[in-house]
Amino acid sequence: MVDMLKDKNILLGVCGSIASYKSAELIRLLVKAGANVKVVMTKDATAFITPLTLSTLSKHPILTEYYQNATGEWNNHVELGLWADLLLIAPATANSMAKFSNGLCDNLLSAVYLSAKCPVYLAPAMDLDMWKHPSTQQNIDRLKGFGNQIIKPKYGELASGLVGEGRLAEPQEIVDHLIHDLKKKLPLKNKKALVTAGPTYEAIDPVRFIGNHSSGKMGFAIAEELANLGADVTLISGPTALHTSNSQIKRVNITTAAELLSACLDHFKTCDICVMSAAVADYTPMEVATQKIKKNTDEFEIQLKKTTDVLYTLGQQKSKHQLLVGFALETHDEVVHAKQKLQKKNLDFIVLNSMNDAGAGFQKDTNKVSIINKDLVKTDFEVKAKTAVAKDICQQIIASL
Ligand code: CTP
Repeated sequence: MVDMLKDKNILLGVCGSIASYKSAELIRLLVKAGANVKVVMTKDATAFITPLTLSTLSKHPILTEYYQNATGEWNNHVELGLWADLLLIAPATANSMAKFSNGLCDNLLSAVYLSAKCPVYLAPAMDLDMWKHPSTQQNIDRLKGFGNQIIKPKYGELASGLVGEGRLAEPQEIVDHLIHDLKKKLPLKNKKALVTAGPTYEAIDPVRFIGNHSSGKMGFAIAEELANLGADVTLISGPTALHTSNSQIKRVNITTAAELLSACLDHFKTCDICVMSAAVADYTPMEVATQKIKKNTDEFEIQLKKTTDVLYTLGQQKSKHQLLVGFALETHDEVVHAKQKLQKKNLDFIVLNSMNDAGAGFQKDTNKVSIINKDLVKTDFEVKAKTAVAKDICQQIIASL
């Protein structure tokens, strides 16, 4: 859940209220969740909590004026609004909300509010009678009508000593609200995805194996992107040195093609999307020596048997609501082979890598792919970072669902 805020640009507006002291904790939680936080304070807010505290926590200078007195530098409210992925105003006072609801812009924060194009969240804080007042409630209704989200104040003891509704929601509740709301908007929310990545190793004896050069980078990038788009991801990975960063990814480690098959069969039935990017061994030794094989002969043969084609097996089991994506790594007659694999394995689309393309292939951080869909229409992509290729593949998944 926390990853929803990773790398998000959050503009935090802090208004003058005793609850402003909670902004310090709020910034700390947002930064801890991976967000970039810039803070705009009203002049009154700076009387309740020091800009130094908030700039230290947010790692950015605090903005309060249209321009900086010392340098004469302009704090461009339009640029700030464009920088932000979301604008959070916490605490939002009755006075500032009255300004926002009427389009006033007599300070930097109200100008930023008016020019922001991103989603806006307001967490009000005030005394209970101010909160109940029809003018405040009318302003709240107007702000909601503009599409802003209100993070409702809580019931409890207020700074005045009175008890009622008006306390600023706790920082953790505010963060949870943002995460919950962002997650609701993701295109793959409620979807389960199964991704395979990396090589398989087929043992010859206790110290040797047949493997391949797959690094797993492409599959890991796809798993990360699917999780970022809201999917609940299971990543079945062969031996790699890679780590996942999105906590929504459940990782299952396997070594052999047989283990990959078994793990895929365990998870496939319940998934909506399956991307098979693992480089699976096509053959495995007939027998695995129980002891290290000694070099007693000049020539040595290993008898191999075919492994089960996992993707083909899943293609046979696939139901109508499931989307199955395969890869094809080819050295010659690339498109012909990829189309054959697409049809034989009953795929929704296939991602073709050619070993002949510069920038494509094992171990690299870049890839060059073509996507061929069920209607055999081919789309070619440029050489890109594997993370960018993962985005293209996931967009194709969204379009195909
Ligand atoms: N694949 C699989 N199980 C195997 C072999 C491959 O699931 N035993 C999957 C790969 O993960 C990939 C697709 O099948 O998504 C195509 O793999 P590739 O190695 O290009 O082709 P193969 O089907 O193995 O055919 P060939 O080696 O003859 O090109």
